[in-house]
Amino acid sequence: MARSATYDRTAVTSQKPMSLQVIIADITKIKCDAIVNAANSSLLGGGGVDGAIHAAAGPELLKECMTLGGCETGRAKITGGYNLPARYVIHTVGPVYFDGKHNEPELLASCYRESMELAALCGCETVAFPLISAGVYGYPKEEAFRIAVSEIEEFLSGHREMEIYLVIYERYSFRVSRQTINDIIGYLDENSARTDASRAELITEFFHRRGVTNASEINAALYTFNQPVTE
Ligand code: APR
Repeated sequence: MARSATYDRTAVTSQKPMSLQVIIADITKIKCDAIVNAANSSLLGGGGVDGAIHAAAGPELLKECMTLGGCETGRAKITGGYNLPARYVIHTVGPVYFDGKHNEPELLASCYRESMELAALCGCETVAFPLISAGVYGYPKEEAFRIAVSEIEEFLSGHREMEIYLVIYERYSFRVSRQTINDIIGYLDENSARTDASRAELITEFFHRRGVTNASEINAALYTFNQPVTE
């Protein structure tokens, strides 16, 4: 498949070229080379992001999917994007979450790896992922987020020409306790006169001063306060 010559990034803002960006958006609206669909093994559509992608792409997408013969969990297949702003759709099937001891982490990691390898093979330079398995399939969002970021960063270390977007659909996809939110509000109030740090930096500082450096926990709080997340 021809390498995409240009792509419009108006839908995906970027202050500077970064290889991985975590953004809050509706993946069906993103204009990039390929968006990834969290499908089921039939590849014949469903609810969630699968339903949204098929609805936006139109009936031609289902027609092409019907020729693919389904897809195994952890694997990925590619189709055209049809009425979507994205040029391609990469369909991958995440694991249904039971207890994390039935090979779910490995299968979820494989979804990201296989999708990125397929995207690279098809000359895609910009790819957007939803949080695979973190909806109907019940994967705990923080853990699904951690696996996604780890696999994407691992892949990008060898493919610096690619730009990957991890798309979070619900702003409050992550849980932040009410107590933590209150404590952060207190910290922001105490430091409201400071000019040396942005709100996002103050929130990050709040966690670091408590010895918390876990990126997904800090990102959850940044989301909750509608701040840009850090890589
Ligand atoms: N844009 C971006 N992300 C979205 C969108 C959207 N328009 N709609 C939903 N999501 C997010 C959900 O919030 C969730 O975090 O996608 C993530 C994956 O959720 P699901 O779509 O439920 O997918 P998954 O958990 O992998 O379950 C797959 O659900 O829809 C069926 O056919 C699908 O059987 C398959 C199963």
